[in-house]
Amino acid sequence: MTKPSTARIGIVTVSDRASRGEYEDRGGPAIRQYFEDVLTSPWEAVPRVIPDERPVIEATLKELCDEGACCLVVTTGGTGPARRDITPEATEAVCEKLMPGFGELMRKVSLEKVPTAILSRQTAGIRGGALIINLPGQPKAIAECLDAVMPAVPYCIDLLGGPFLTTNEDRIVAFRPKK
Ligand code: MTE
Repeated sequence: MTKPSTARIGIVTVSDRASRGEYEDRGGPAIRQYFEDVLTSPWEAVPRVIPDERPVIEATLKELCDEGACCLVVTTGGTGPARRDITPEATEAVCEKLMPGFGELMRKVSLEKVPTAILSRQTAGIRGGALIINLPGQPKAIAECLDAVMPAVPYCIDLLGGPFLTTNEDRIVAFRPKK
């Protein structure tokens, strides 16, 4: 039996204060914990903590998708309307394809929790063999948003030629349409 290949998952905290060490990064560890709870196939985290600087965000996303060989990159933070919030623009700039359904669904489920969900411009897209997904910066938004989109993520990664992800079905049932 061939050993399943290890999925590399980029976890990018976009925060001026966390990157300067003024604020503990709680989003990155929450994303890591989420995948520890949900994924049953082998994976490894590739974490980064960076400021809300568009060139830095773009360079980090490119590095994780290209040399870093990540099949999935999840960002947290910088999706709102504030002057320095620029993560969705940086994501769109590095992606060859946009996946607007991810942002639409995450905002829809988030709006059931918090009226300010409308303030998040979070999106998703494809760069090479990687799916990039933006999450808001609030740590509690991480599971709220990922629970909504995660059923479709393993099949998306199949379509990109990535590793076969399996999930703890008590948490998330991955949907793969029958061929
Ligand atoms: N979505 C969920 N699920 N839970 C939240 O608490 N916070 C909202 C929104 N989306 C939130 C959410 C708020 S208050 C803002 S300002 C925007 O996300 C943008 O957050 P960001 O700039 O930290 O990315």
